[in-house]
Amino acid sequence: MATAQFLLLLLFLGIVSPAASSAHPGYPEPAECGGELELTVVRKEEYGGGRIVDISHAYREDMPGWELEEGLGRFLRLTRSMEDGDVAYFSEIRLPAHSGTHVDAPGHVFRRYFEAGFDVDTLDLDDLNGPALLVDVPRDKNITAEVMESLHIPRGVRRVLFRTLNTDRQLMWKRQFDTSYVGFMKDGAQWLVDNTDIKLVGIDYLSVAAYDDLIPSHLVFLKSREIILVEALKLDNVKPGIYNLHCLPLRLRGAEGAPIRCILIK
Ligand SMILES: *[C@@H]1O[C@H](CO)[C@@H](O)[C@H](O)[C@H]1NC(C)=O
Repeated sequence: MATAQFLLLLLFLGIVSPAASSAHPGYPEPAECGGELELTVVRKEEYGGGRIVDISHAYREDMPGWELEEGLGRFLRLTRSMEDGDVAYFSEIRLPAHSGTHVDAPGHVFRRYFEAGFDVDTLDLDDLNGPALLVDVPRDKNITAEVMESLHIPRGVRRVLFRTLNTDRQLMWKRQFDTSYVGFMKDGAQWLVDNTDIKLVGIDYLSVAAYDDLIPSHLVFLKSREIILVEALKLDNVKPGIYNLHCLPLRLRGAEGAPIRCILIK
């Protein structure tokens, strides 16, 4: 019974919709060249004439994923479809929590923090939003204590986005995961913790820690539970300098990582 009504409704909608759109006074008249409106998607990386820069990567099947040979792969699946006569499209997401532009919570590398519930929903939005410094690091090294010292980041700076060789190599645009990406060595992470006031560390590939110092660097950063790590930022075409950063992670209870949307405002 319900199904029959449904089909009727669909038929009805199919018949009346062309007339309905032009009848509504609030909507502009569709251009009448050949009858059909041309549907063209416009995607942007900047908004407001360049005032807002999107520094998050769009999730794509061919984007690299952590230790994945073939990239992220299919992460969206339609569970209902209008092609099958449903009234709407309805998708499911299946995604490693640490894919694309994402954030790490203290529970990521500390069992006691994970068990105590230090998930992404406990991260401080005050640290994730505010003035941030974008710096270029030397291209011939990973981020060591020596490199950190050479950057002369003043005390009081709380948020720093580190742009590295990863951006030049366009690693986030390559399907295959690459372990030779630039990140923090343990001594670089320790130098940051000991000598700066940085509470947000952003970087341009899937991990803030160099692959060779993966766990040691994460442990140094996350031990105090005061530093937030934002990874796989899209830092192409932005000049070094000070911006207003806005980062908002999904409130995934129990998750030690989550997708995050980050923008820079000039
Ligand atoms: C950074 O470290 C990785 C290993 O973690 C290494 O493969 C890469 O060559 C290093 N990059 C530079 C620029 O030294």
